[in-house]
Parts: sequence; C-alpha cells; structure tokens
Amino acid sequence: MSESRFILAGVMGWPVAHSRSPVIHKHWIAQYGLQGTYVQLPVQPERLGDAIRGLPALGFAGCNVTVPHKVEALALMDDVHPVARRMAAINTIVVREDGSLYGMNNDGAGWVQSLRDADPAWRAQAGPALVLGAGGAARAIVVALLDEGAPEVRLTNRTREKAEALAQELGPQVKVVDWKDRNQAMAGVSLLVNTTTQGMQGHPALDVVLDDLPVGALVSDLVYIPQETPLLATARQRGHRAVGGLGMLINQARPAFHAWFGVMPEVTPALRAALQATF
Ligand code: ATR
Repeated sequence: MSESRFILAGVMGWPVAHSRSPVIHKHWIAQYGLQGTYVQLPVQPERLGDAIRGLPALGFAGCNVTVPHKVEALALMDDVHPVARRMAAINTIVVREDGSLYGMNNDGAGWVQSLRDADPAWRAQAGPALVLGAGGAARAIVVALLDEGAPEVRLTNRTREKAEALAQELGPQVKVVDWKDRNQAMAGVSLLVNTTTQGMQGHPALDVVLDDLPVGALVSDLVYIPQETPLLATARQRGHRAVGGLGMLINQARPAFHAWFGVMPEVTPALRAALQATF
C-alpha cells in the first residue's frame, strides 16, 4: 500500500445514521496515522446493485454492509468467503486490485471474540446453546457456534418455519424448539443468545423467564442500543455473566479494517471510550 494513497471505506445500509461503525474506523484511521476516511452510505434497497457496482469506480477500498442489505449484497459479489456463503449473507466488501468484489462475513467471528473478551475460558463445546430468533443475525450466530464445535444448538423463533428452514440447511445439531417452549428450553444450556430485535430501543423487552437457565450459563444479547437491555440486566441480577452487542460490532470491524487499510487494529480503552461517548 502506498503511503500517499487516500483510502476510502464506509457502511452501506438503509438507514445508516445510527451506525457506530464510522466512530470505530475513524478512530483507527487517526490512531494509525493513515490517509483515508470512512463514510455513511445510505442506499435504498432498490439502488443496491447500482451502489455496489459503483464502488470500484468511486475508488472505494470496500465497505461494510448492514441491514437490510446483507443477503442481497452477497449475490452481487464476484467471490465470496466460504463462511459468508454458509451464512448466506455478507457484512464486508473488499474491492480488489482488479476491481472485482470480494464478500466476507465477520459477524460470527466478531461475536465469538466478544464472548471470549468477557470470559476467556468460554468454549462452544461446553454445552448446548439456545438461540432466540431466526433472522439474518441468528444465521451468523448459529454458523459460528457450529464452527466452534457446539454440541447442540436449540433454535426458537416466533415464526417457527424460519427456524425449521435454518435447521434443515445447517444440520442435525440444530434442534428447533417451539417459541412457546423457549423458557423450558433453557434447561441445561451453557449459553443463551438473543438475536431478535426485542429489547432494542423503541421495542418491547424480550419476553422470557430465566428460571430454568443454569447458574453458570453465559447470556449474550446482540442488541447494543441500549447497551444494557432488560435481558442483560435480569441475567446479571441472577448472577450470570452477560455480554451486550457492542463487543461484536467492535470485533467484526477489525478484519474489515485490516483488509482495507492494511493494519490489524487493536481494541483499546480509548476506542471503547470514543464509542461510549456516542451513547
Ligand atoms: P436481523 O437480520 O437483525 O436478524 P430480522 O431478519 O428482521 O433481523 O429478524 C428479526 C428477528 O426478531 C426474527 O427472528 C423475528 O421473528 P420472526 O421471524 O417471527 O419475525 C424476531 N422478532 C421480531 N419481533 C419479535 C417479537 N415481537 N417477538 C419475538 N420475536 C420477534
């Protein structure tokens, strides 16, 4: 990478104004003294193809892809990382030297790292996991859990068919549980993960009762606005280790930054403080 090159990256979504990714990447650009910037790319769904195909011409090194484009964007790539292919979604695009587009998905690895940051001894092999929700975020989590060696992933979703479809695709370790049985399905798990939108700012709290959740179980909520969701607060009151969604956002950003800017960035207290200041 030539030092004089100004590197351009961004986050493509609709809407994107709430995204904290610009804070993260701009922090690292400044920290490492790089020439470049990271911008918001608000793109309506019907313009996604035009926007993505325009990235090489605009001189972008690549961009992140967020809601609602993660699935549709995959089909527009010239090449896709196998993990992203299994997740059927991408969260990062890299524009290669020849102008071709490479899609990756770092959400699962970023999430696993956020659990390890909270509990360095955490292992997916420790026991069954219960995943709430079966949308795009759930897919990345279930694939990551299977790749990490989880013996069983219980999957429950308000709309059961979506969980069934995921289980059928991802294999026999994924066991579908009826949404009405979600509380009893907590018995014996070592991990509970919320991938639904419940608990997010402007949404009601997730409707669950943790009475059957073993004391040692880790509780993860992908929601990061607010940082302390009702689920996390209740879990902490019961003595569980509880991990919010911000760590996943930070950790998934590292390999993307590396791909565009050529530096594997560190997660420092200063970065966490910069993010904290936006809440
Ligand atoms: P994402 O890509 O972030 O996963 P999504 O694909 O829209 O977003 O998925 C949202 C998830 O939240 C889904 O699992 C959804 O359940 P349905 O498949 O039944 O829609 C879940 N969800 C949304 N509102 C919910 C509610 N009120 N109660 C339970 N689950 C809910």
